[in-house]
Order: sequence, then C-alpha cells, then structure tokens
Amino acid sequence: MKVLVVGGGGREHALCWKIHRSPRVRELYCAPGNGGIADVARCVPIAADDVVGLCAFALEKAIDLTVVGPERALTLGLVDELEKRGRRAFGPRRDGARLEGSKVFAKQLLEECRVPTAKFGVFREADAAERFVRANGAPLVVKADGLAAGKGVFVCATEAEALAAVDEILRARRFGSAGSSLVIEECLEGEEASFLALTDGETVLPLASSQDHKRIFDGDRGPNTGGMGAYSPAPVVTTAVHDRVMRRVMAPVVAGLRSRGIRYQGVLYAGLMIREGEPKVLEFNARFGDPECQALLVRLESDLVEVMLAAAERRLAGQRLHWDPRPSVCVVLAAEGYPGDVAQGDEISGLEQLRDWRHGVVFHAGTTRRDGRLVTAGGRVLGVTALGATLGEAVDHAYRAAGAVRWRGMQYRKDIGARALGRLS
Ligand code: AMP
Ligand code: GLY
Repeated sequence: MKVLVVGGGGREHALCWKIHRSPRVRELYCAPGNGGIADVARCVPIAADDVVGLCAFALEKAIDLTVVGPERALTLGLVDELEKRGRRAFGPRRDGARLEGSKVFAKQLLEECRVPTAKFGVFREADAAERFVRANGAPLVVKADGLAAGKGVFVCATEAEALAAVDEILRARRFGSAGSSLVIEECLEGEEASFLALTDGETVLPLASSQDHKRIFDGDRGPNTGGMGAYSPAPVVTTAVHDRVMRRVMAPVVAGLRSRGIRYQGVLYAGLMIREGEPKVLEFNARFGDPECQALLVRLESDLVEVMLAAAERRLAGQRLHWDPRPSVCVVLAAEGYPGDVAQGDEISGLEQLRDWRHGVVFHAGTTRRDGRLVTAGGRVLGVTALGATLGEAVDHAYRAAGAVRWRGMQYRKDIGARALGRLS
C-alpha cells in the first residue's frame, strides 16, 4: 500500500513512525513533514492545507490511504475531495469536521443529544453578549466560534476579562470570520482528560485514555499552548468514567451526527472535564491530539493502518485494539517565546546520544535539516516520549533523555505526569 500522511508536527511524526511499521505499507509519504519524519517517510513540499495540491499528489502517486493530521484540511474538505476522486482517506468530511470547526455547531449538537456539557449562550451581537456576561457574572469562558489555532478560548476569572474577550472577538474582529459568533459558557471545575476514539460513523472504538498539559508553565500556570506534554493512561478515567463517556458522550454524538445525515469517520476526540466521576464535554476535535497521539501510539501494539482502513471502509465493527500495558509520557521541548512568536534556525544538539535510546522515541515537531544540521523550525520542537514499568519510571526516562538535548532558549515543563503520580500514590 501507498500511504500519505498530511501534516508536519509531532503528531504526524508519531503517525508516520507507527504507519511505517505496518507490514502492509510499501511507500510512505508525508506532506510537508519535518526533519525527523524524513527518517521514515518521503517528505513532499505541499502545505497541509493545500487541498488542491494534496489531491493532485494523491492521484498522481495513486495513494491508497491518506491520513489527515491537522484540522484545517478537514474543515476545508480534503477528505470530500479525495473521496470524489475515488481515493480513500482517514478523517471526517467537511460536514463532520464542523464538530471542531464550529463551537456553536458542537454545543448545539451536544444540547440536542443531551450530552453533559457546560451551560452556554451563543451570540453574534456584542451588546447581547455583554448583557449575558453581566447577567451571569464571572467566572465565564468565552470562545470564538471558528478555528483560532488554540487562541480563541478565554477562561475569564472576572466580568471585566469576559467583557474584554467579547470586545476582542466581536468588535475588534481579532479572529476575523472565525469570530463572527461566539459561545459564552459556564466555567467548569475538575480534572481534564482527553478521550479519543476511532469511528466509522456507527461503531465507536475507544483508544486508551490520555491527558494533556495545556498551560506553558509548571503547575498549570501561564497561557494555553497546543500542549506541553501528555501521558497515557489517565488514572482519572477509571473504568466507570470510561463507560460513562462511551454511553453518554461518544454513542449519542455519533448517532446525533448520523441523524443529521453526517456519517463521521476518523478520530473523534472529546476534551473532558471530570468531577467526582462525572464527565462533561469541553470541546471536540476531529483528529488526533498533539501530543496525546505521541503518548498513545508508542503504546499501541495493533496495526494502525488496519484499523484506519477499517474506519475509512466503514467496517470497524469487530475490530480490536491491543495496548502495551506500560504507561507512557511525552515531554514537549519548546522554543523560547512559545506559545508566542519564537526564534527559528537554532541548532539542536544531543540527539545523537539518543539514537539507541531503549525507552522510547524522540518525535520531531518543529525541526528541519539545513546544511546537514538539525535546526529548530517551530514553537514545539521535539516530543520526548518514553514507556516505563510505572508512570514514574516513564517520567524518569523521558526527563533523563530530555536532559541530553540542547539548543539556545529551549524550554519545557518539569511536571509532566505529576498530577497522575499524585493520584496514584
Ligand atoms: P477548548 O479549546 O474548548 O478545549 O478550550 C481550551 C481550554 O480552555 C480547555 O482545555 C480548558 O482548559 C479550558 N476550558 C474550555 N472550556 C472550559 C470550561 N467551560 N470551563 C473551564 N475551562 C474550560
Ligand atoms: N493537545 C490538544 C490538541 O491537540 O488539541
């Protein structure tokens, strides 16, 4: 088989690393890829949101399966375009990707399907949104409707902050058309977890649980990022919580989509807030999480290509996934300034010491090769991903390996997994 992976981050390196190991795969391409992906796949210089270019490439090479990493190509209809041309793809079509691409759509679906989620209001007019803020009082969470690269969510401790967020989104139009409407919702408390499943629009095949660390600094302080680290499994997702999520979230959402004529195929990712064993949905993503994907795929023993094909061909019923029982952790090494503007082109050293690392894989996110040297090329640069007999051991392995890597301005959180370790002890 010929497989094309779309994207060029840590998630896509993990996908390529795993897909490369499948005995079914003869040729593997990645568009655009990165400095690490080049070791396992042929990188082609097509942007991850260039739907026309990606379709042309898939046709020219007769790609059997295109696996879409990032959300934008999904919301732009890459899967629709590939399927129209008779090419198989893993990921939802444009209509299903609205679950991530429009928070208004997602909240309305949740409400209709009676899935537990924060109480909310939807607004297009700033005056009405401001009245809602004043009537409800802080804390509140204000969210731009559309895709905003993780920057469109404002968790507001005071009324003034919530009013400022409304102003930025609806009056200053900071997010352009992604902010022509917004959601204001109740602020939930509890512990967050990521619940990912594969689905073919009928069957839901859950992946192992995982947890992300969204804030930039230790102790969950500082601004939100794309994710600074992850581990799997997440102890907060007990068997009882897992069953509740399957019954009260995943099944009704997939059925709700189907009743709207949307046959959702790909990854369904629910961001959850869990309090006293009761999960509520914060958001949906239409793809694998990054860096949850890295922590999950080092634990997956089954052939990923097999199950992705089954999802794309709507025959997921009867498929099973086998997991390495050992816990995993991914520690993200980021560039100076992340999640804001970052310097690029800094030489990365120390990776040669990890070439025969026995405890895991160093996934590349923002790296590129220049004149034979590996240099930084993005905010999140590497994802050091380790397995251990216990979560504590996985954490030790990951941090020891991270300690070997260096570049100017490298930063990372020192407490990835700490919360789960506290819960386990
Ligand atoms: P989202 O993109 O909707 O997941 O929001 C990003 C982050 O904002 C989440 O991971 C949470 O940490 C936080 N967040 C979103 N919605 C809420 C909420 N209703 N209550 C508390 N925190 C929230
Ligand atoms: N790690 C969170 C996300 O991928 O959206």
